[in-house]
Amino acid sequence: MKPINVGLLGLGTVGGGTLTVLRRNAREITRRAGREIRVTMAAVRNVERARQQYGGQGLVITDDGGAVVNHPDIDIVVELIGGLEPARTLVLQAIANGKHVVTANKALIAKHGNEIFAAAQDKGIMVAFEAAVGGGIPIIKAIREGLTANRIEWVAGIINGTTNFILSEMRDKGLPFDQVLAEAQRLGYAEADPTFDIEGIDAAHKLTILSAIAFGIPMQFDKAYTEGISKLTKEDIRYAEELGYRIKLLGITKRTDQGIELRVHPTLIPARRLIANVEGVMNAVLVKGDAVGATLYYGRGAGAEPTASAVVADLVDVTRMATADPENRVPHLAFQPDALSNEPI
Ligand code: HSE
Repeated sequence: MKPINVGLLGLGTVGGGTLTVLRRNAREITRRAGREIRVTMAAVRNVERARQQYGGQGLVITDDGGAVVNHPDIDIVVELIGGLEPARTLVLQAIANGKHVVTANKALIAKHGNEIFAAAQDKGIMVAFEAAVGGGIPIIKAIREGLTANRIEWVAGIINGTTNFILSEMRDKGLPFDQVLAEAQRLGYAEADPTFDIEGIDAAHKLTILSAIAFGIPMQFDKAYTEGISKLTKEDIRYAEELGYRIKLLGITKRTDQGIELRVHPTLIPARRLIANVEGVMNAVLVKGDAVGATLYYGRGAGAEPTASAVVADLVDVTRMATADPENRVPHLAFQPDALSNEPI
């Protein structure tokens, strides 16, 4: 069977990781997907630098995202540029052109997911976004597939690696906030605008997505209560420690009598709890289902290859679905809310 052709929008930390994983595990990935997944094009901001780094790999490198989403030979567009624009316009254009979409862009899905999924559904297009939440942890698949028998009661987790890294390093090594943040940026964990990490906005984007998947509701980012870690001091962390607690930035979403609640804020957790011991860039998400009880998912929440692991998993999923007889396709990848109510929080 002929390869499926992929075009990348963005070739930074995660894009580079995606190329590495696809190349290193090519044989297994081809077998699992049923055909070769071949990245043929990439749109980048700095063409010269990308050509120096990736030029020998048979990739057409351009600075024009439109050239990727409009190219007739591209089957799947992988959006890794982040931010709202031009990501939204390019993704909608890709969908209009009949291309499936894989994205790691949590801000885009949290804020424009409802519009994107509606467009995708109209065209029978798949939009996959496992990499948008929890880095390498397959949390979207776990909730949507593994726990599909359950009525989800609540989801709570550490879903921002940068802030967890900062809190861990401040506590363990007594390092100042700014120094640890600079290290998180150097390691490629932090957002382009790190206030998104520090002020809890990135976690709120991810929580919005988890909430929509868990409760079958539209994305409701604007209704999330959001508070970050910028007001925490070393003393807060030390006092918590002395009282037998750890401070973690948690995202929590649950059913209440008034509707679905979404909130992100620093939380005191007894030090003996598993989730209190999640350190560094690691993420952990607890999901409580009515049948299964509480379940816990743990892994690297950011970084090149952990995030690429999720991107490539989506590529395999989309390739399988795109290859299947349309009559037998399960219409699950373009997210479909169960209830179109915008329940107040
Ligand atoms: N800035 C994000 C984090 C990257 O630190 O978790 C992964 O989404």
